Amino acid sequence: MSVNLKGRSFLTLMDFTPEEIRYLLDLAKDLKAKKRAGIKGKSLEGKNIVLLFEKTSTRTRCAFEVACHDEGGHVTFLDSGSSQMGKKESLEDTAKVLGRFFDGIEYRGYDQKTVEDLAKHAGVPVWNGLTDADHPTQILADILTIEEHVAKPLSKVKVVFCGDVRNNMSYAWMYGCAKMGMHFVGYGPEELIKEIDSEVLTKVTEIASQTGATIDFSNDKKWLKGADVIYSDIWASMGEEDQIPERVDKLEPYRVTTELIKETENDDVIFLHCLPSFHDFETKMAKEQKEKGYDIREVTDEVFRSKHSKVFDEAENRMHTIKAVIVATIG
Ligand code: CP
Ligand code: NVA
Repeated sequence: MSVNLKGRSFLTLMDFTPEEIRYLLDLAKDLKAKKRAGIKGKSLEGKNIVLLFEKTSTRTRCAFEVACHDEGGHVTFLDSGSSQMGKKESLEDTAKVLGRFFDGIEYRGYDQKTVEDLAKHAGVPVWNGLTDADHPTQILADILTIEEHVAKPLSKVKVVFCGDVRNNMSYAWMYGCAKMGMHFVGYGPEELIKEIDSEVLTKVTEIASQTGATIDFSNDKKWLKGADVIYSDIWASMGEEDQIPERVDKLEPYRVTTELIKETENDDVIFLHCLPSFHDFETKMAKEQKEKGYDIREVTDEVFRSKHSKVFDEAENRMHTIKAVIVATIG
């Protein structure tokens, strides 16, 4: 049966079948090839989209903007300071108004329920550009990058997520691996493994039993062996900066170092990271925290710049995969 995603929201990969995710990945590959060949797209001509950002962004915002412009569409950007949403106007009313103006709405913010409620009331597709609980567009880009760099079918790929195993990226990866029959290991401290949402675990375990995926968690480095992908993310996500001291305490043993990469015993292992990353002390936050005695680097500069690192290919793929999501749902 052919896949048709017109009119669908993109809130979490859990709402999509493996065939639908495959369709988006293949469409992203086509759109990437088209862009590389300098072929201009027209699939969003006459379409308008709005981007709502309650948290900051470089990649996601720019990916939506460039993707939409590339296909002939128009973009409006609203950050939390420049709309009435939530302050003078309810989410429901905002969604109903924006749904009259726009063909699609992107939302980045805190609660997953906010993006779900927007989708419930907008009457047009809503795309999740990151919440506290998920980051589905990132996983599409990550899987595309894996398919470009790892010479194995996804069903044989082992992804080890190192660090804050109870954050939005880790959850998004569990969903992605479960759906695509991949092998996920959350490598982090016992205290954080215990904090993983039990509902998320129940959901991914059920899907994994249908797709052949495996989902495991451990603080034991023996699980690094055979990894095809070492993945990392910052230790304190947006909005959690007050938790930096305790996170550094717990997560320093899980920093991605050359020694950790060697534990995979796979010379072809790739390193991926959603970015932004603390891999040196060239940022205001890393410098300030260092002065307070906290080394917040989740990966060393050596690994970040090594042959294993494909993080900038991955960042570019945000744009191609987000373009696929927009084109598939409103194009
Ligand atoms: N990876 C990612 O979502 O990056 P931004 O926060 O810059 O959008
Ligand atoms: N876990 C990170 C991901 C950033 C893309 C955050 O939410 O800040």
